[in-house]
Amino acid sequence: MKAAVYNKFGPPEVVKIVEVEKPVPKSNEVLIKIRASTVTTVDSIFRNGKNLFARLAVGITKPKNKIQGSEFSGVIEEIGDKVTKFNVGDHVFGPADDNFGCHAEYKCLNEEHTILTKPDNLSLIDCAAVPSGALTAVPFLRDGAKLTSSSKHPKRIVIIGASGSVGTYAVQIAKYYGAHVTGVCSAKNIELVKSIGADEVIDYTKDDFTNNGKSYDVVFDTIGKNPYNQCKNSLSENGIYLTAYITWSILFQMLFTTKIFKSRRKAMILFTGLRKSSEKTADLKFIKELIESNKIKPVIDKKYPLEQITDAHKYVDTGHKKGNVIITLG
Ligand SMILES: NC(=O)c1ccc[n+]([C@@H]2O[C@H](COP(=O)([O-])OP(=O)(O)OC[C@H]3O[C@@H](n4cnc5c(N)ncnc54)[C@H](OP(=O)(O)O)[C@@H]3O)[C@@H](O)[C@H]2O)c1
Repeated sequence: MKAAVYNKFGPPEVVKIVEVEKPVPKSNEVLIKIRASTVTTVDSIFRNGKNLFARLAVGITKPKNKIQGSEFSGVIEEIGDKVTKFNVGDHVFGPADDNFGCHAEYKCLNEEHTILTKPDNLSLIDCAAVPSGALTAVPFLRDGAKLTSSSKHPKRIVIIGASGSVGTYAVQIAKYYGAHVTGVCSAKNIELVKSIGADEVIDYTKDDFTNNGKSYDVVFDTIGKNPYNQCKNSLSENGIYLTAYITWSILFQMLFTTKIFKSRRKAMILFTGLRKSSEKTADLKFIKELIESNKIKPVIDKKYPLEQITDAHKYVDTGHKKGNVIITLG
């Protein structure tokens, strides 16, 4: 089968399309013929190998898993003899397992992994752009920010990077939970961020929300651009700063904003990819329901065939994609 393989860290050109062996499903696995995946910002960070924390996860000297791709959509082509949950021909989507590997024509997954039949109202291609961003946004908002649709007093939340993958899901899901949402992006994305439900949008190239005199219950920095120290004076008394991007500073700030140091404001990072499959499955079911009831939708920027994956990496490397970048196969 064809796959996008990288054997060393570096620029987009390290990713090459090569022939590799097609996987064979074990008795409890399904073989998925992949129709689409994405190049995410995480793929870009893992590929360039410049981030120390990323290197600890994906390989110190060279990548442990040679095929990237953290989400997929496709058709089940074969099932192992003990598989009971899926049938050949099912149209499915989900996050990859710990081995990634969705930038390839086929992938085997244990049937207990997070695999769902696709939402009725999304194409098989477009639903590949759901798992990573939405499965990151939900735990940050529900478990970190404690947003809930039954809350009587809407929380005020700022979402930095509101036009990115995690950001576009975060805006829509925060609105579903009834929050008052302020999105931060540049001028060219203001209409997009408003169209997905933001109550207010701040153009970071002109205005700085940390100096606007307002206070917020939650600041969610989806892209690691505004560290806690910059945002803490914009937090309400019991406000929380959340970031999806790991740095040494956020690890220290988490420590210094615990109860031991009697801080009422909190700083927090979550590692949503490390959760159990059962938790991700429950969350993806919830996300699928939100999609099918038209409460949220994926924002898709560009689509590239697998053969042009280097161009997709180059585009994601700019740091200015809108929502998601899809890779199509087959
Ligand atoms: N902790 C976890 O469990 C976890 C899980 C998944 C992902 N992540 C992390 O989440 C991060 C977000 O990934 P993503 O794919 O959502 O990001 P992304 O799509 O790459 O974000 C790009 C967007 O950010 C906007 N942007 C750039 N600079 C900005 C600034 N200074 N202020 C506000 N917006 C700005 C850009 O808008 P303009 O073009 O308008 O500038 C663009 O639309 C990644 O760093 C990834 O490592 C963490």
